[in-house]
Amino acid sequence: MAKVTLKNVTKRFGDVMAVKELNLEASDREFLVLLGPSGCGKTTALRCIAGLETPEKGEIYIGDKLVNDLDPKERDVAMVFQSYALYPHMTVFKNMAFPLENLKVPKDEIQTKVQKVAELLKIEVLLDRKPKQLSGGQRQRVALGRAMVRDPHVFLMDEPLSNLDAKLRVYMRAELKKLQKELGVTTIYVTHDQVEAMTMGDKIAILNEGVLQQVGTPDGIYFSPSNVFVAGFIGSPPTNFFDCTLMEGVICTLDTGEFKYSLPENVAEAAKKRTSDACILGVRPQDVLVYKDAKKKRLVKAVLDVIEPLGDVTILDLKVGDYLVKAVVSPDFKAELGDELWIEFPAEKTHIFDKKTGATLV
Ligand SMILES: Nc1ncnc2c1ncn2[C@@H]1O[C@H](COP(=O)(O)OP(=O)(O)O)[C@@H](O)[C@H]1O
Ligand SMILES: [Mg+2]
Repeated sequence: MAKVTLKNVTKRFGDVMAVKELNLEASDREFLVLLGPSGCGKTTALRCIAGLETPEKGEIYIGDKLVNDLDPKERDVAMVFQSYALYPHMTVFKNMAFPLENLKVPKDEIQTKVQKVAELLKIEVLLDRKPKQLSGGQRQRVALGRAMVRDPHVFLMDEPLSNLDAKLRVYMRAELKKLQKELGVTTIYVTHDQVEAMTMGDKIAILNEGVLQQVGTPDGIYFSPSNVFVAGFIGSPPTNFFDCTLMEGVICTLDTGEFKYSLPENVAEAAKKRTSDACILGVRPQDVLVYKDAKKKRLVKAVLDVIEPLGDVTILDLKVGDYLVKAVVSPDFKAELGDELWIEFPAEKTHIFDKKTGATLV
């Protein structure tokens, strides 16, 4: 087994900087998720590791071995793509046996190996079928099986579940994670789906425009985002943001134009790291507290604009001047459209970002 290390990996396509000075490490046996919006460089980074792209700068190690100059075949990685690309004219058995036949593995060994992996993936009964006789989920399993028969040091997976319907995707998410733990193979898994990343990853690396934003555990990234991009990308519904000006005084205050938000002392202290007074206040919809009347101080008046009942929770869209604030409340919360409500942002749950750099101040 092996860890995978990227040092300063940079890849450009013409004017497009697809991956910029990427430093990243997947530990041995770890499930590392590369997460980011479409076009942020995830596939390119993965293809560099696989040896399908040549970085213009930087080093890639698998285990302790520098692999920059090794062919894809010599890297001992197995890649699973979004489009499973099974050979349509071959049976499931043949599809899975193919990589081993290429490696000139003896026939009886191939037989044993395919059988074993098929059992693990619960596709033994499908071995004689052709791909068109399989469901989407079964095809995806065959594609995984084809990658697994080789006992690679590393799995590289590029959005392997995104062609499946929602229900199957949720099922396969859990299956794949369980399987990865059973096999203990270091896995780098690319997705643009934050829920997939949060549920599957031991560690998540978030990319934006080719630049690594943060690496951490799902909890670490959710509760302590390192910048405004990460805070906005992780969590659903997305974090509420307010542009504001920080005004220093006896009590430091953020002025959003619509309301003022006074900062607790410790927060005011941390806010001193800012590069200018332009800040962004961020609070997750799950952390916004909503009241029917103004019992407490420091509440902000809002008008209820939209109610979205989801069953387990209800999402409220609240208008505060020009801002739309989303709040997640209990389904018992009863209110009418147009009602005046009062909202609170608990200090310990809010984040403040430097507007210029995007960095988290608090
Ligand atoms: N072969 C290529 N030629 C030119 N530009 C490319 C090529 N592959 C990727 N790009 C560009 O590099 C950027 C990153 O792409 P990609 O790694 O596919 O992103 P992601 O997988 O995160 O969606 C995008 O702007 C994309 O258009
Ligand atoms: Mg991609």
